[in-house]
Amino acid sequence: MALDDIRDLIRTIPDYPKPGIMFRDVTTLWANARGFRTAIDRLVQPYAGVRIDKVAGIEARGFVLGGAVAHQLSVGFVPVCKKGKLPWDTIAEHYELEYGTDTIEIHTDAIREGENILIVDDLLATGGTAAGAVNLVRKAGGTVVGCCFIVDLPDLGGKAKLHEMGLSVMTLCE
Ligand code: PRP
Ligand code: HPA
Repeated sequence: MALDDIRDLIRTIPDYPKPGIMFRDVTTLWANARGFRTAIDRLVQPYAGVRIDKVAGIEARGFVLGGAVAHQLSVGFVPVCKKGKLPWDTIAEHYELEYGTDTIEIHTDAIREGENILIVDDLLATGGTAAGAVNLVRKAGGTVVGCCFIVDLPDLGGKAKLHEMGLSVMTLCE
């Protein structure tokens, strides 16, 4: 399946969640067996031969993709959660949203010093969320080997922001 076909399987919903926003809905891609399989295969492709110890997936859609990517790579999975969702001790990171700020967390023992981590989410917009996740992994002592997403919204500058942080970024479509 070509990248154009993956793009065609993503539904666009105008004016969601607010007027003027074109929401890229990846659930229609996930519901298609070949589409989901191909998306996961293509997300992991650049990391063949790279040592990855764990995948970190960002709540909520990054849990679905990150779980599948971790399974494909036969490595563990770390949930990067919105504030207050994790039951044990956490490390927190505040990050910038398009309008305002938010907080994400991981368990203090989720990542060990020196582990190589791949960050996964559905979509890269301003890059604020992904940059927050990168900082969390680094605080925990991990090394981010890359960040991968299905969709990049290039006008919002997220890819440039992550490149400025010295990160390798994989996206399947714009
Ligand atoms: C969306 C998306 C990314 C983030 C991208 O999640 O799934 O995590 O926004 O935006 P950014 O690059 O500007 O930070 P959202 O905050 O809507 O959370 P949800 O997955 O819980 O709905
Ligand atoms: N889809 C999903 N998440 C998002 C989007 C979108 O279009 N824009 C910002 N976060």
